[in-house]
Formats: sequence, structure tokens, C-alpha cells
Amino acid sequence: MCVNPKSMGKEARNSPKKDLCLVQLRIVNIPSTDLMKKINIAIDGYSSCGKSSTAKVIAKHLGYAYIDTGAMYRAVTLYFLEHYVSLSDAHAVHKALQEIELKFMLNPKSNNSEIYLNGLNVEQEIRKMYISENVSEVSAIVEIRKDMVAQQQRMGRKLGVVMDGRDIGTMVFPDADLKIFMTADVTVRAERRQKELLEKEELVEIQKVIDNLKHRDHIDTNRTEGPLRKAEDALEIDTTFITFDEQVDIILSLAMSKILLN
Ligand code: DC
Repeated sequence: MCVNPKSMGKEARNSPKKDLCLVQLRIVNIPSTDLMKKINIAIDGYSSCGKSSTAKVIAKHLGYAYIDTGAMYRAVTLYFLEHYVSLSDAHAVHKALQEIELKFMLNPKSNNSEIYLNGLNVEQEIRKMYISENVSEVSAIVEIRKDMVAQQQRMGRKLGVVMDGRDIGTMVFPDADLKIFMTADVTVRAERRQKELLEKEELVEIQKVIDNLKHRDHIDTNRTEGPLRKAEDALEIDTTFITFDEQVDIILSLAMSKILLN
């Protein structure tokens, strides 16, 4: 299934079916309560499709925990770069993993959960371009993936988690009640990513961002362990032509249907 309101023709958008769509979206206004069934929501997809920002808002709306698994791989990459750990040295990789402690903690100012590497907040540092340029190679290492997946599964044991990444619906939570697979045109993704970098005062030319996204997509899709794949039961959402609010509304209404109707 592919949900993309912009791909509807003008007629369809103005037809009574549109009202159906609006009725469905109204569901999001029902606040979730502690008495409601909790589910895990897996959001996978290519780099810079808007997975993290969407997942964050959905988690806030549902009162769920948000886990950015990309941040975990980025923090491991930062540690490996800072400690000159060679990816081809299995012993060094194993030792480094034992020395790494990752934690998410809520920043009360931004009300966002931020990642800590061995007690240090690295939320800003891991978003920089030099981390993006190295993270896919690091996250292709089998031992690193096994370690991260085990930690992520522990975080989701009690349900009530929105997790985004590349292998959440296939490896981390294969039984998740709701699985979303997000896609978008690579140029649109690159423009969004470039804007994010600029907001953090890092100016990167668009072609360099496009090349990095394509490179990461290639490695993420072709690695042997936990490759980026759409789970068979995932719903695909193409975000190329829809606004951020629209993508949030679509996923929230799907989540509320799972919570209320299952
Ligand atoms: O979501 P992101 O762009 O911040 O993720 C950074 C990298 O981490 C991405 O290029 C691939 C890797 N990753 C992964 O292999 N598996 C995940 N579950 C999440 C991210």
C-alpha cells in the first residue's frame, strides 16, 4: 500500500472520498490515555526522508518514547573516529563496543530526547557532515549491528515506543503493530538535509549532500546484516509532495486506528 494524498488527481481530492480522508484524520484529535493499548511503531526508510522529525512528533502526541536509532549508529561512529578504531580490526571493534555506553535523556528545554555517549551529550556533534560521511561503513559491521539491535529491542520491550531507522520493521521489531516505510525523491531529501545543516551553521553544497545520500542508501541497502528493506507488512509513504503536517497526520491516524480498533 502506498499513501500519497498529492498523487490523487484533483477530482479525487474534491470527491466525497476526501471527506472520508478527513474523517480518518480527525481520529488524531482523540488524546491517547494510559488506559489505551500501547503499540510499537517502526518507521524505516532512506536517509533524510523526514523519519526522525515525523517520529518525534508522533511520539509526543501519543505520549510514547522516541528512539532515534540513527543517532546510536552516529554516536558509535563518533567514538570510533575519536579513538581511531579500525573497522577491519575485529578485536578493536569488540573492545570499543564494550567501552561505549549510549543513553537517551530528555532535554527539558527542548522537550526532545537527546543522545549521550559515555555520559556526554553528543546530539549536536553527531549531526555533522563528517559523521554522515563515515556512519554507513560503521553501521555495516555485523558486531556493531547486533549490539545496537539488542539494545533497541530492550528499549521496546514495554511497548509504547516510536523507533525510526533502517531495519526496525524487519529486524528490531518484526512484530510491530504499525510499520511505515518512508521514501522521497533524492533531490528533495538533499534539499531538506542541506537546510538542516545550514540551520546548524554548516554550509554544504547540494551535490555533496546528494552524493552522500546516494552513497549511504547504497551501503544501507546492500549490506549483509540488517539491510534497508521495506518489511512486507509495512505501509509505504512517499513524502516527496506532501507537507510535514500531512505525513504526521497520515501516520497518526494509522496509529490511532491500530490502538483503538485492534
Ligand atoms: O537516520 P540517520 O540518517 O541519522 O542514520 C545514520 C546512518 O545510520 C544511516 O546512514 C544508516 C545507519 N542506520 C542503520 O544502519 N540502521 C538503523 N536502524 C539506523 C541507522
